[in-house]
Amino acid sequence: MKKVEKKLHRLKGSQLLRDLCSETNFSLSHFVQPIFINENMLDRDEITGLKNNFVMSIDKSLQQIDEDINKGVRNFLLFITPSKKNSTSFNLDFHQKAISSIKNRFKDDINLWADVCLCSLTDHGHCCLFNDDESINLEKTLKEISNIALSYTEAGADIIAPSDMMDGRTLSIRKKLDESNFLMTPIISYSTKFSSNFYGPFRDAASSAPSFGDRKKYQLDYRSQTEAIRASIRCADEGADMLMVKPGMTSIDLIDKIKEKTHLMVGAYQVSGEYAGICLSEEKGLLNLNEALKETWHVMRRAGAQYIITYGARLAKEIGF
Ligand code: PBG
Repeated sequence: MKKVEKKLHRLKGSQLLRDLCSETNFSLSHFVQPIFINENMLDRDEITGLKNNFVMSIDKSLQQIDEDINKGVRNFLLFITPSKKNSTSFNLDFHQKAISSIKNRFKDDINLWADVCLCSLTDHGHCCLFNDDESINLEKTLKEISNIALSYTEAGADIIAPSDMMDGRTLSIRKKLDESNFLMTPIISYSTKFSSNFYGPFRDAASSAPSFGDRKKYQLDYRSQTEAIRASIRCADEGADMLMVKPGMTSIDLIDKIKEKTHLMVGAYQVSGEYAGICLSEEKGLLNLNEALKETWHVMRRAGAQYIITYGARLAKEIGF
């Protein structure tokens, strides 16, 4: 026993040896930075708890992405909030304008992921449409979600990322895109997404908090691993090109298992509440932000995450990636 301990110490003797033994090295190309655009915004507002992250006008978002590219970020996940909410039909003009402005400006320098969901569009803030008795109208929901996905793709989005968790949405979007000849547009599904307490700061930023009830009827229960893995398998079977666990930090036990079952790439989304927890701790002088972020990213990577969505992507270069 003593011998083993000694050996371990020897390998920790120098920075070069520690680096030599590290197994989770990865680079800036593995990070995805979320971007929030709101039609009501003239300039930008910092999002409560999410240091260095803003809700922006289209113009400001262009400036932000430009700065982020200089910091080595190439993948952006876009959330768009329109000024008018509805619960029957959706006007996507502003969404199309935002996406096409970004793509026209940055072309293939960036990979633009468009989050597809109804929660920032509906007046009730849910990710679906309802029947009169408040049961989910799946058929109508899937139709709208597929139309939104197509509209984002037509505007220039490179990747479609459905986050609604409705049954059958990946298949429905795939069919819609294929029919319109967007055969090469990948779908990265939020495939294992829990009903979580950690989405708070995001819902403020996207003004998408549900006005009644919660999302437990369509998002996963964090007490079940079986259901969580099955949700990803279903997305894979429906044609998802890549998968995701979310919240990332509280789902690391699932990544390798999902990879084993699906043979697809699986990423982790370090969600708003997880990131905010670290930022707020730093504000109180309880930890070092950069070092803590680095640790969480390495842990997600160690658990098998092939890409990482994080509000700190634009800090990764400065942190040493
Ligand atoms: C929309 C969506 C949410 C997040 C990403 N897409 C919120 C939710 O499902 O309530 C959360 C992201 C975060 O907290 O950082 N459905």
